[in-house]
Formats: sequence, C-alpha cells, structure tokens
Amino acid sequence: MGFAGLIQSRRILVCVGSGGVGKTTTAAALALGAARAGKKTLVMTIDPAKRLANSLGLDRLDQEERRVPDDKIVPGGERVRGSLFAMMLDQARTFDEIVDDYLADPAARQRLRQNRIFHQVATTLAGSHEYAAMAKLWAVAERGHYDLIVLDTPPTANALDFLDAPDRLVRGIDSPALQWFAKLYLHHSTKVLGLGGAFILKRLAKFVGSRFLEDIAGFVGENGPMLIGLRDRAQAVHDLLRQRDVGFVLIASPEPLSIEELLFFHHRIVTAGLPLAGFVVNRVHTAGVVPQARADLVAQLSARPELRGYSPEDIVQIAADFDRTYRDFQALAEIDARQIGRLRATAAEAPLVEVPLLDRDVHDVEGLTLIGQYLL
Ligand SMILES: Nc1ncnc2c1ncn2[C@@H]1O[C@H](COP(=O)(O)OP(=O)(O)OP(=O)(O)O)[C@@H](O)[C@H]1O
Ligand SMILES: [Mg+2]
Repeated sequence: MGFAGLIQSRRILVCVGSGGVGKTTTAAALALGAARAGKKTLVMTIDPAKRLANSLGLDRLDQEERRVPDDKIVPGGERVRGSLFAMMLDQARTFDEIVDDYLADPAARQRLRQNRIFHQVATTLAGSHEYAAMAKLWAVAERGHYDLIVLDTPPTANALDFLDAPDRLVRGIDSPALQWFAKLYLHHSTKVLGLGGAFILKRLAKFVGSRFLEDIAGFVGENGPMLIGLRDRAQAVHDLLRQRDVGFVLIASPEPLSIEELLFFHHRIVTAGLPLAGFVVNRVHTAGVVPQARADLVAQLSARPELRGYSPEDIVQIAADFDRTYRDFQALAEIDARQIGRLRATAAEAPLVEVPLLDRDVHDVEGLTLIGQYLL
C-alpha cells in the first residue's frame, strides 16, 4: 500500500528518521507528488543538497516560501494541477530568536538577551532548535495557505527531542518555582508571598547574590506576558502535532540498526499520542534482475566493441566478477527482506513502502519523480 491516500487526507506530514536515511529526499518527493496531484503544497526542508534546491529552480532557499516554477514540477510543459512551494528552515534560528516575535521593543530584547536566567533557559532547553522548527511550522499552518505542508526534520543525536521540546517548555514555565517568583515580582508584596517567603528570599539573596535574584526578577517580571505567550505557543504546537490531519512518516534504511531505531521512534510516537502516517524503508536492495545465463553474458560482452582489447579469458573473468557481485546483492536483498518482515510484523498498523536503492544520488526532479512513484 502506498501513500497516495495520505497526501489526499492529511494537512501536515512530518518526515522523521535518523541521520542520512532519506528524510529530505522523501519530503521533497512527497511534496512534488502532491503538487502534481493538484494540491497547493509547501515543503519545509532542512539543509537540502544544493543541487536539489537548484534543480527545483530555487537557487536561493531560505526562510521565505518560494514558488517552484511549474516547468520544474512537470517538465514538458503540461499544465500543473497544483503548485509547489519550498522553503528552508534555518537551523541557526534558535529559541532566543523566537522571542523576537514577542518582544517588539529592541531595548527590552537587549535586556532579555543579557539576562542570565534567560540565557540559561535558551541554551539548555534540549531540542530548542527543533522547537524553533516546530514553532515555524505552527506559524505557517496557522495561516492556512496550503492544502498540504511536508516537514523535513533535522538529524539530531536525539532525533525525537523536538517532540518533547514544546511540552518541556510548557512544564518549565508552569513550574511552581517560576510561578512563585512570578507572583513575588509581579506583586512586590509580602501579602502574596507571606512573611516566610520574604524571609526565604532574604536568605536566598545571601547565598546566590542579589544579582541572581534581580535576573530572575527581570526575567519573570518584565517578561511575564512574553512567557505566557511562549507557553501558549508551545501548547499550541503540542496540540497541532496531535491533530488528526497530521501524520508522522517514519523513515529508515533496511540495516538492522536503522530498523531498530525506527521501532524505537515508532514506540515514542505512539506513546506521545502523535498520529502515525506510515513507514518508509529507503535504499532497499532488490533482487529484481534475473541473472543472465553465463554463456549469454559472455556472448554479449564479447560482442562489445569497447572490450575488443580483452582476451576471452578476461571476459570470462569479468563474467565471474559479475556473478559474484550479483550473488552478494542477492544476499543483501535477503537480509533487507528479513528486516522489513520484522518491521511489518511489529508495526502493522500503518502503510509501509519500500524504496529501492537507486544507482545514483537523488538530486533532480527526475530522481524525485522516481522515488515518488514508489512512495505514492
Ligand atoms: N533510494 C535512494 N537511492 C539512492 N540514493 C538515495 C536514495 N534516497 C536518498 N538518496 C541519497 O542519499 C543521500 C541522503 O539522503 P537525504 O539527504 O534525503 O537524507 P536525510 O535523512 O535528509 O539526511 P540528513 O539526516 O543528513 O538530513 C542523498 O545524497 C540522497 O540523494
Ligand atoms: Mg536532510
């Protein structure tokens, strides 16, 4: 079963997998297929190969959504039913830049950046880059311009940090300690705090220095509304990812370790209550070609003018090498088939597509079209 139904029924597809498995390729191929099927589609990629961006007619790919020229989507000048837009998520865009969306006043931004508590929060929040990507997805989805958005995700050591990042942010901002300080500095009164609280604060100042408390005051007091905004946004991202028209596409290569990782991702996605859309096993060795009879092969090789310098013994040697390579390939295909069987048995609830290992890199529309044919 392919993914043709997915591009019709989902509004957001998120491509997830460990480093180098084909996330960017899959995202671009799905988006291209969707545009051809009549959808107004946006692919939000991360660091695509320059040649891939170029071949989509996008010599510059940045945070701006750019329209891919129609003649790139369907070479040959047929009418394109949908449209394709592409943008690149800026991986350098950090959590602290998101704050700019909330603080219009440059002086206030400056104060916030110099605030050590903020610095601590912004740099230690695991998955903050990933969160930034998700926040961008939310902003684009909220505008409702597209029928389908396909999101590529970054290769991170802990590839699923981005799933937790919104929750972690909400929990951090909701934490009792932060709330306690917020109350204190918003009201400046021992009534709210209680005498005990005021005493604790004095003692605390002795230990941590008043600069630290000022930092907290600055962080929570002045930025109270911003924090609430950030918290609400994180909650909105959390909710968005769990809507029914969102789907996570889990991608792996057929190697045992990669399948193992995929099964782990699958578990995480399911327990986090995120909607699973399907599995892609990419770069599969297929045993498709029928081995040529040895005599046939030798006859064909002997007839090739460019091999005229070779002796009959050389040609037999070439045929033997060919046989050996073919047998190795068969063995790899068998190993892959076993791994895919294991995946099918463990995670049977969603469609799984196999994309074969192509004999070249996928960096142009032709290659994406081919991948798309397997996916869809
Ligand atoms: N089925 C395939 N056959 C041959 N080459 C492929 C196939 N799928 C992807 N590739 C190539 O493999 C390389 C990695 O693919 P891609 O960039 O999509 O992976 P990725 O998961 O996005 O990597 P990263 O984690 O680094 O972002 C690319 O050069 C791509 O052209
Ligand atoms: Mg990539």
